[in-house]
Amino acid sequence: MLTTMRIDINQAVTILRAGGLVVFPTETVYGLGADASNPTAVRRVFEAKERPYNHPLIVHLLESAWLEDWALDITDEARKLAKAFWPGPLTMVFNKQSHVLDLVTADQPTVALRVPRHPLALSLLNGFGDGLVAPSANRFTRISPTTASAVQQELGGRVDMILDGGPSEVGLESTIVDMSRELPVILRPGMISAKAISEVVGRPISYLNQDQPVVRVPGMHAVHYAPATKTMLLDFIAIKDRICEFDTDLLPLAILSHSNLRLPKVDGVKVVRLPSDPDGYARALYRTLREQDQQQLKRIIIEDVPQSAEWAAVRDRIVKASEPA
Ligand code: TXA
Ligand code: MG
Repeated sequence: MLTTMRIDINQAVTILRAGGLVVFPTETVYGLGADASNPTAVRRVFEAKERPYNHPLIVHLLESAWLEDWALDITDEARKLAKAFWPGPLTMVFNKQSHVLDLVTADQPTVALRVPRHPLALSLLNGFGDGLVAPSANRFTRISPTTASAVQQELGGRVDMILDGGPSEVGLESTIVDMSRELPVILRPGMISAKAISEVVGRPISYLNQDQPVVRVPGMHAVHYAPATKTMLLDFIAIKDRICEFDTDLLPLAILSHSNLRLPKVDGVKVVRLPSDPDGYARALYRTLREQDQQQLKRIIIEDVPQSAEWAAVRDRIVKASEPA
């Protein structure tokens, strides 16, 4: 097993050095990896994902010691965050070093950097010896893959290699915090919470004010991270009220429910249980959405989750997966 893995890593590194695409597991979701310093390779990433060029990519590093090679103006607060959360599901945005490709940053003066935690990702970075761009390994606006078979569905045939590292441990994309401003701001919520970040830097950290005219906010399309099946977000009371009287043109449908409350059995309505804790829910969400998306359903209904801080990242994703109410 170990030997096979080592051969795979060598082969993967050879592919990356030649400008190829290697999908690798991270603890958050699978990433579509390519040499961050090779413009042809980076262009292939955008093409494989059908992603517009104005959406910048995250550069993945082996360790904090590589930060200086990519970022300028690294503050003490950023170093504290790196020490506390790397390797792990945190991405930090910095002013970029001049060599960082405009293609990677979408012509912005900043670059997003992260050190992932999955051992295969770290072996790959160690073997390659330099930064790798790795957007989530899905086609643009689709759900991020959390298993190698989901990657196969999304990008099979468009990439040179897929490294299988089992199901993703976190299940949602990293928290993105912009460290290039006076006050750090969270651009994308993730399982590392605003509170955890605030505790490390020693001052309150806020979420991006959506009214501010800021460039390239992750997930700013009205529908993002969405299944192909129409998806609605309803709270438990609304589900309970409507379960017996859904229009027949909405059937069959699936209700993704995390509360252990009982729902009546109704023809054409399937209740799919999700874990009732935020970590377990996050881990299962994308896999479950993907499975239900393949069931020829007319609707997926997601039971809304609490509006509390510990559910913030999950709620961000389920709101984005759903149609506006
Ligand atoms: O967990 C993750 O972050 C995963 C794994 C594979 O590492 N990657 C990921 O990449 O989610 P992607 O490309 O799907 O999402 C990266 C987000 C994009 O929405 C992009 O807008 C934002 O990061 N981003 C990248 N560079 C940025 C920058 N310089 N300023 C602001 N946002 C940036
Ligand atoms: Mg993505």
